[in-house]
Amino acid sequence: MTLMLSKNIQDELQQTARLLATNGKGILAADESMSTIGKKFVQIAVENTKENRRLYRQMLFGDDRIREFISGVILHDETLYQKDDNGKGFVDLLREKNIVPGIKVDRGLVLLMGTNNETNTQGLDDLKPRCEEYYKLGCRFAKWRAVLKIDEHGGSPSQLAIVENARGLARYASICQECRIVPIVEPEVLSDGNHSLEKCQQVSQKVFAATIAALHEHNVLMEGILLKPNMITAGHDFNGKAENNAEEIGMATVMTLMRTIPPAVPGIMFLSGGQSEEEATVNLSMINQIGSKIKPQTPWKLSFSYGRALQNSAITIWAGNVENVGKAREELIRRMKANSLASQGRYMPGSSTTTSSTATKSNYVAKHVY
Ligand code: 13P
Repeated sequence: MTLMLSKNIQDELQQTARLLATNGKGILAADESMSTIGKKFVQIAVENTKENRRLYRQMLFGDDRIREFISGVILHDETLYQKDDNGKGFVDLLREKNIVPGIKVDRGLVLLMGTNNETNTQGLDDLKPRCEEYYKLGCRFAKWRAVLKIDEHGGSPSQLAIVENARGLARYASICQECRIVPIVEPEVLSDGNHSLEKCQQVSQKVFAATIAALHEHNVLMEGILLKPNMITAGHDFNGKAENNAEEIGMATVMTLMRTIPPAVPGIMFLSGGQSEEEATVNLSMINQIGSKIKPQTPWKLSFSYGRALQNSAITIWAGNVENVGKAREELIRRMKANSLASQGRYMPGSSTTTSSTATKSNYVAKHVY
């Protein structure tokens, strides 16, 4: 007998995926590992303790207005078991706001022998029991980050890295769906390097196509996933970077997705990948404007699943001080609202930055890990 997802499970997955891709809403990625959040805490002189991480996430999730702009939040395992000051679990706090709790399930990167320091993502072995447990705890979607890098002289990404990462993503997606959890499929082509926008497009097209092919091989239900790709941009150290404007980025991104991603996928939720908050918003808005102008129009919701590009100004304002929570939340809401407008192609560049704002500051971190 061939194993198949039951009709019930298929319906539930589609419902969750559509809810996450609700018009005008996006996802907040707040699943930084302890070491990654530790690096942010060092910059604001906050000690990296369990309690400080709880206080920080309470700042992020506590304001009721986030429900207008956010359909889901990706959590770290530690946060699932934490509560706010009133004793309410963060998962319940989010669900009460109609926000879907999600969970990062990958266990980071390991090196691939015989490559130029390329990586594969680990965490498949016990993924099924973990997903079953996460479902019981209220999570309805998951994230798994696969990373590819461009190094033209070093021959990356290699065919091995493309194939192995696509397979990993597909096996992960299949296990999640079996457990009624919508997988966010994230093939991230890093912006590290001095490559051109054209090179990023060429590589991303290969990577996205290989990822979709692997998903089909693993019988993944396309209506029950979300894609989380990079935008098509020049590398961080590319000489002519300043010359890439939002229109070029938007056009190349839309073209690459139109060539590779089936219309059955309900939503494409971009990562910000080190762009400044403002850049990530302007580019998302342009992608949506171009997507609705071309013929045929783009068939998916095109929205955001940002980590750094939603949080960086807010965390700087917060700085671990309870008195700053209100102001930090104002900044967070400002960025969420800006991206909500951008996901509808309606963001006016510059309209969400103030003179003191850090929103135009680059969020680039070399060899960024989550
Ligand atoms: P950035 O938006 O900070 O790139 O991260 C999003 C994310 O979840 C990467 O896995």
